[in-house]
Amino acid sequence: MIQTSALVTDCREIVEGIFVLSFRSPEIARGSAPGQFVNIRCSNGCLPLLRRPFSISRVVGDSVELMFNVVGQGTTLLSKKKAGEDLDVLGPLGSPFRLQGNFDTAILVGGGLGVAPFPFLTDALLREKKNIQTIIGARSSRQLAERHLLNVQVATDDGSRGFQGTVIDLLKVLLPQDGSKNSKIFGCGPTKMLSALSQFAREKGLECELSLEGDMACGMGLCQGCPVERVDGKKKYSLVCVEGPTFNSNDIVI
Ligand SMILES: Cc1cc2nc3c(=O)[nH]c(=O)nc-3n(C[C@H](O)[C@H](O)[C@H](O)COP(=O)(O)OP(=O)(O)OC[C@H]3O[C@@H](n4cnc5c(N)ncnc54)[C@H](O)[C@@H]3O)c2cc1C
Ligand code: FES
Repeated sequence: MIQTSALVTDCREIVEGIFVLSFRSPEIARGSAPGQFVNIRCSNGCLPLLRRPFSISRVVGDSVELMFNVVGQGTTLLSKKKAGEDLDVLGPLGSPFRLQGNFDTAILVGGGLGVAPFPFLTDALLREKKNIQTIIGARSSRQLAERHLLNVQVATDDGSRGFQGTVIDLLKVLLPQDGSKNSKIFGCGPTKMLSALSQFAREKGLECELSLEGDMACGMGLCQGCPVERVDGKKKYSLVCVEGPTFNSNDIVI
């Protein structure tokens, strides 16, 4: 993990309210794996005080891409970054998705900005020669960020594109039977969606790994501010920033 002042090479809105920011950092690009995140200082002033965490969305050569939507002060400032400006980045942080294993097909399920880590994950799964199916959901067609994803099926709340309903409803239509034992689910999105996804995977007997996006402060195990309850009894909590953000869905209470 390094702290660096990286050069912003691009920042643009790709679909309504969703931005992609690219910065150059050979060290972070080389050292990152899908599922990891960076902690960004969004302002040169004091506010917001804390860094903001973002999944590493894609790595291209020496460049790292983040995908984010504007929800508050930090992301508003980030959305205004221009090519040529500096960005204070700490990373890569956290534990990556586990890509090896006894599965042929990866089913990527993303709700809203939960799709952010999927381009990087897709590239890595292709190198592992896995089949990929991607199911993404958004409120409407205007908020769908599909770039650099493979075999995408879409669900929208308002039915403006694809299936009308949630990604979990769509998943139930696409995988109605048990027995897809050669598949593994990778999920990222709002907690309610991850909870439903975890239950779906349990019912189907599928392995499932989730990337959590709860509140975070230090991002490196110092403040103890990001606990998630464990089910296995060996210890009561895990820190999302160090032991996660990716977890086997059977290991945590969500
Ligand atoms: C490991 C990790 C990876 C993440 N990756 C991404 C990513 O790739 N792209 C992306 O857009 N976001 C991602 N997030 C969420 C992102 O960090 C927050 O949206 C960001 O910190 C908000 O900062 P802000 O200053 O703009 O908003 P704030 O002013 O801090 O908050 C504005 C509003 O958004 C709500 N909010 C803040 N953070 C979250 C959150 N994590 N989940 C739900 N509501 C929240 C607050 O409660 C508040 O109502 C990630 C979070 C984690 C922990
Ligand atoms: S955010 Fe500080 S310990 Fe996890």
